[in-house]
Amino acid sequence: MKNSIFTNLYAGSSKIRQSMLCLPLFLGLMTMTVMANEADNRQVLNLSNPQRNHVLTEMRALLAGTQHILAALAKDDMAAVAEQAQTLGFNMKHKAENPLHDVLPKEFMQLGMSMHKDFDQIAADITSMKDPKHTLQQLNATMGKCVACHEIYQIQVSGLDSPKR
Ligand code: HEC
Repeated sequence: MKNSIFTNLYAGSSKIRQSMLCLPLFLGLMTMTVMANEADNRQVLNLSNPQRNHVLTEMRALLAGTQHILAALAKDDMAAVAEQAQTLGFNMKHKAENPLHDVLPKEFMQLGMSMHKDFDQIAADITSMKDPKHTLQQLNATMGKCVACHEIYQIQVSGLDSPKR
């Protein structure tokens, strides 16, 4: 009994010693990660302040809309899911991105359009299939496009505010 307590204590302290040894390595890795994150190497979209606000307003609507879709899915309210998905569909794109058509790179527009089309497809499939699992899979793939675009681009406000478009 005494022996086993001793063994446990010993094992415990050797674990502590092991983790102490790991600490400098851990801190070193943390510093490297922080340093890596300090440089934002994503492609810069140079926008005026109103243009930036325009894009970010659409973005916040996308985030809110995605949350609304999830809330409706959680309630198994498929009609509401379809309705919410449609508000993020191609028609939303016409409202939000058209004024910036000449400013944003072609690839950005294509990725954006493809995401909006996905939301229309989600709405269409609900009507024909009514399968929440299928909707979740589609939502997962669509959100992959949010993630992909955010990994590629950043917005910076250009010093000379170009005229409003
Ligand atoms: C075609 C490109 C693209 C797609 C697709 C895209 N975004 Fe964005 N989003 C951006 C860019 C660029 C920014 C600004 C990032 C920066 O400057 O660091 C941004 C910023 C945001 C922000 C921050 C808003 C703010 O007020 O600061 C949110 C939230 C967001 N996006 C949500 C989403 C969601 C949710 C989706 C998918 C349903 C999505 N975005 C799809 C390009 C995109």
